[in-house]
Amino acid sequence: MNAELEKILKEAKESLAAATTPEDTENIRVNMLGKNGKLTMILRSMGSLSKEEKKELGAAANAAKRELEELLNEKVAAVKAAAQNAKLAMEKLDVTEPGTPVEFGAEHPLTVTTNELVKVFNQMGFTVVEGPEVETVWYNFDALNAPVNHPSRDMTDTFYFSENQLLRTHTSPDEVRTMQTMKPPFKVVIPGRCFRYDTPDATHSPMFHQMEGLVIGEGINMADLKGALDRFAKLMFGEHVKTRLRPSHFPFTEPSAEMDVSCFKCGGKGCNVCKGTGWIEILGCGMTHPHVIKAAGLDPEKYTGWAFGMGIERVAMLKYGVDDIRLFYENDMRFISQFK
Ligand code: DAH
Repeated sequence: MNAELEKILKEAKESLAAATTPEDTENIRVNMLGKNGKLTMILRSMGSLSKEEKKELGAAANAAKRELEELLNEKVAAVKAAAQNAKLAMEKLDVTEPGTPVEFGAEHPLTVTTNELVKVFNQMGFTVVEGPEVETVWYNFDALNAPVNHPSRDMTDTFYFSENQLLRTHTSPDEVRTMQTMKPPFKVVIPGRCFRYDTPDATHSPMFHQMEGLVIGEGINMADLKGALDRFAKLMFGEHVKTRLRPSHFPFTEPSAEMDVSCFKCGGKGCNVCKGTGWIEILGCGMTHPHVIKAAGLDPEKYTGWAFGMGIERVAMLKYGVDDIRLFYENDMRFISQFK
């Protein structure tokens, strides 16, 4: 019987040595110490033995059982620890390893230009307001003193939704909206998207951007316009830049003018950018027409003001030497990423 015990114990030790999973150790436990386990069977079979034999074998069997239990407990702990280590190894994170780089985006050149313009006007005390892209005929034309037969009202020049609703053709309607909502005196700039029925080419796009400016208060005159716009040009393009006003016509200003800046490429000598004139047209401006002030609900006897309108694409093209307006809308990364 002792030999049988030794054999069982040896077999159990061998299986334990080979065990690697909790299932393995559990199988061994059941095989040896379970209800029908080999060791259990030996202990159970002792009933038929003599008292002497019982005493001897009983002690040996119990010792074998304790040893086996101890070994099993050790192995269970070891297997558990090994599983835990394997899990940790799998989750291991090397914080010194280089990360996956995220590419930085770039602001669109029109955003860059708009922000530059806004920054300059902020310095001069202007605040930014915005208006709707879908406008009424009244805001876009009537309130701005546009004659009923003005060509810009034509279906061939303006995108109409209906007889009364359209896509704004300029940011000037927001001058009227601003006068209706803000209490003078105020100075605002109004950047925004505009739409005209144009066939795209190097200098035209059916969608483009403008920045409107409006100053309303008491006793404001053309000298204020001239001084402020000259200051703007110097802050935007450099202190060396000169400006000049040429008489022009807009329905919503009287008198009206166009402002030129001395060519920033050749400095005034004449080149391909300024077409040999030394000057570049940059914006339209003028003293806000009394009709417009009145249409917006303000008293033109009390309030005067001046306004300007500027093409943002045009400024960007001049400033960055872009020769085709369509480049701004194609979103070709080779173009866009140059403005980082
Ligand atoms: N709205 C004009 C246009 O789209 C630009 C303009 C000219 C705006 C003179 C003004 C201004 O405010 O005073 O061509």
